[in-house]
Amino acid sequence: MALSPNMNVMLRAAEKAARSLIRDFGEVEQLQVSQKGPADFVSAADHRSEEILYEELSHARKDWGFLMEERGEIKGSAPYRFIIDPLDGTTNFLHGIPHWNITIAIEENGEIVAGIVYDPIRDEMFRAEKAAGAFLRNKRLRISGRRDFSQSLIATGMIAPKKPTHKHQLAQVEAVASKSGDVRRFGSAALDLSYVAAGRLEGYWEYNLKPWDVAAGSIIVKEAGGFISSIHGNDNPVYASGVVAGNGKIFDEFKRTLISASAEKDAA
Ligand code: 2AM
Ligand code: CA
Repeated sequence: MALSPNMNVMLRAAEKAARSLIRDFGEVEQLQVSQKGPADFVSAADHRSEEILYEELSHARKDWGFLMEERGEIKGSAPYRFIIDPLDGTTNFLHGIPHWNITIAIEENGEIVAGIVYDPIRDEMFRAEKAAGAFLRNKRLRISGRRDFSQSLIATGMIAPKKPTHKHQLAQVEAVASKSGDVRRFGSAALDLSYVAAGRLEGYWEYNLKPWDVAAGSIIVKEAGGFISSIHGNDNPVYASGVVAGNGKIFDEFKRTLISASAEKDAA
C-alpha cells in the first residue's frame, strides 16, 4: 500500500529524530545514578529532536508554517502547518521509563488532516489521514467495541495541580474509577489517544494540554472510528482546555460522568 507524499515526509522525519532520542535515552539510563540528574540533558535531547524535525520538514515543505513545543509558532505562506511535539512523555523519558513518542500533525486551514504518533522503543507508528483511515504500521486501526462502561479501561493525565481544573479532575477520577472497569495514568497524551484508536483503551480524558499533545492523536482517534471533543461543550479538542476521547458506545456515558463530577464539585 503506497503512502501519501505528506505521510512519507512525516515518517522519515520522525524516524530520523527517533534515532537521536534513542541514543539520548540510553544515556539517561546512565545519568539516573548521578546527583544532578538528567533534567538538563533531557531538555537538550528534546531540542535536538525538534531541530531534526524542523530541518527535515521545512526542507521538504518550504512554504508551510510550524507550531512546535519548543520554538513556538513559525508562520508560512501556505494554508498548511505542522504541529509538532518533538518529545511527548518527557517525564517518563527523564526517569528512564520507555513510554514516550514523537508526534507530528498537519493542519490545513485550521483542520487536522493527517498525523503520526511514533513510539520508537516499541517501534509502533500510529498514523492517520483524513478519509483514509488510521493504521498501526500497515494494520488498520479500529476503536474498541466494548459497549459497557463498567468494563471499560480509561486513561487520564494530571499535569497542573495548581490549576482550578485539578479539583474537578480529582472528583472525575473518583467518579470514573467507580463506574468504569479501571483507570490508568501513563504520562503521554499522544500515546493515550493512539491506544484509544487501537482499541487498547475505551477512553481518555485530560485538562490543560497543548495543541501539539492532541493534534495528531485526534485524527488517529477519528479515523479509527472514535469520538473526540472538548470535555465541556463540543469544541475542537485540539485547542480546548479539556479533551475527552472514546469509542462511540461508551462516549456519552463517559462524558456525562466527567461533566457531572465536575459540576458536583463546583456545587459543593
Ligand atoms: P510532555 O511530555 O510533552 O510535556 C501527560 O499527562 C501529558 O501531559 C503528556 O503528554 C505531557 O507532554 C503533557 N504535559 C505535561 N506538562 C505539560 C504542560 N505544562 N503543558 C502542556 N502539556 C503538558
Ligand atoms: Ca507533549
